[in-house]
Amino acid sequence: MRKKIIAGNWKMNMTPSKAVALVNELKPLVANDDVDVVFCVPAIDIIPVIEAAKGSNIQVGAENMYFEEKGAYTGEIAPDMLTEVGVKYVIIGHSERREYFAETDETVNKKVLKAFEHGLTPIICCGESLTQREQGITLDWIRMQIKIAFLNVTAEQAAQAVIAYEPIWAIGTGKVATTEQAQEVCGAIRACIAEIYDEATAAAIRIQYGGSVSASSAPELFAQPDIDGGLVGGASLKVDFGKIVNYNK
Ligand code: PGA
Repeated sequence: MRKKIIAGNWKMNMTPSKAVALVNELKPLVANDDVDVVFCVPAIDIIPVIEAAKGSNIQVGAENMYFEEKGAYTGEIAPDMLTEVGVKYVIIGHSERREYFAETDETVNKKVLKAFEHGLTPIICCGESLTQREQGITLDWIRMQIKIAFLNVTAEQAAQAVIAYEPIWAIGTGKVATTEQAQEVCGAIRACIAEIYDEATAAAIRIQYGGSVSASSAPELFAQPDIDGGLVGGASLKVDFGKIVNYNK
């Protein structure tokens, strides 16, 4: 049985003091032993959030990292900077990183490999645009993104990975994919992992849905056979996140 994983993606929101206040508010609301709860926060919030989350079930993730160890990469965060302070997860290849910061499937692959090298669990994002969905190439596109993201990743590593399927047209728009659409793509991703590796790896990997997840849409989405939780943007900054994490109560 795969344990559900529900992650908040704070994006570029919350100064350190606001971050601490939010964690203190959410801490009692996000307790749920059935779920791995992760807060992916801006780099400058990581240390205060880890401090504030002590004694709770909240694990802390980063929203990005670079694929080199160290050096002349102004503005970037190295993997061991994250692990040294207790970060466990890192979002890789969010569609906003791809759109505004020129990330590609190739840089995503490099980051995924580097994350595993450092014992970080990558939350690997994929997703189609509205045009791609309308053209009927969603599954081809997603399969390509997955195949490149997992190049040279071992089966043992892949089994530990998290994939977030986030249709770009559903992000921050209030337009959630239907449960059928979300399940179809998440099922296709699992089949793609089985094709690259084997059935056991496909059965172990966790696949999230992301894109306007709310307290009302979460229960049905997370009940789908291939949806193992969610990556939540807007609603992770509100008390609603507690309801999303407790979707099964
Ligand atoms: P949203 O963002 O929940 O605000 O749509 C999801 C995401 O981008 O991870």
